[in-house]
Amino acid sequence: MWLSDGKVGLGPFDAALAESYWRWESDPRVRVGYGQQTPESLEERIANVAIQVKNTMHSARFTIYDLSGDVPVPVGTTTLEIDHRQRTAEFFILIGLAENRGRGIGSAATRLTLDYGFYVTNLRCIYLSVLAPNVAGVKAYEKAGFRQIGERRQSGYWAGEPCNEVLMDVVPADFPGVSAVKQLLHDSE
Ligand SMILES: CC(C)(COP(=O)(O)OP(=O)(O)OC[C@H]1O[C@@H](n2cnc3c(N)ncnc32)[C@H](O)[C@@H]1OP(=O)(O)O)[C@@H](O)C(=O)NCCC(=O)NCCS
Repeated sequence: MWLSDGKVGLGPFDAALAESYWRWESDPRVRVGYGQQTPESLEERIANVAIQVKNTMHSARFTIYDLSGDVPVPVGTTTLEIDHRQRTAEFFILIGLAENRGRGIGSAATRLTLDYGFYVTNLRCIYLSVLAPNVAGVKAYEKAGFRQIGERRQSGYWAGEPCNEVLMDVVPADFPGVSAVKQLLHDSE
């Protein structure tokens, strides 16, 4: 586990979990949330994971672990797509199974990914867009420190209906509470 708040952890994006990633991403609720309109085959996903695990220069990818049980359980992924020239990144997340959503894992994993992005990757600004009807997403991102900066009109679909996308961003000054990265550095002094 690279970074944790005691309940939720971030670990490596792992080719051995390719089939889990594919199962999570195939859930229609996840595909609607991501605006992906066709299913992906397992073969295609395994091939893409093989590329993604070898291309980390511009993407910080993490597996989210639920640490509430006896052993860490992989439950989702987060990604920062980095623009090194501007020191910015776009944020993506999914929590794989419906029973793991609404338990605070998404907001905690978002917060840990911002912590990594600001204090390991040295980003200045992290941004995202989320379909306006995705209330759980907007709330989870706000809890982690993102704020709404506007809406892009009629630029997405939610269950067959055109909808707006909410644009959000966060800078280090907005980061709420104690940084787990800074705490690790402090503990090793
Ligand atoms: C979006 C997502 C990452 C959020 O993670 P999560 O673990 O479910 O979120 P959390 O439990 O941390 O917080 C969600 C918040 O939204 C609230 N919420 C959840 N569903 C809601 C709904 N339908 N209406 C209103 N509020 C809702 C929760 O009560 C919680 O707020 P609270 O802590 O004040 O009670 C997760 O639901 C997910 O992976 N969804 C599918 C993929 C997706 O949409 N990804 C994002 C694409 S931009």
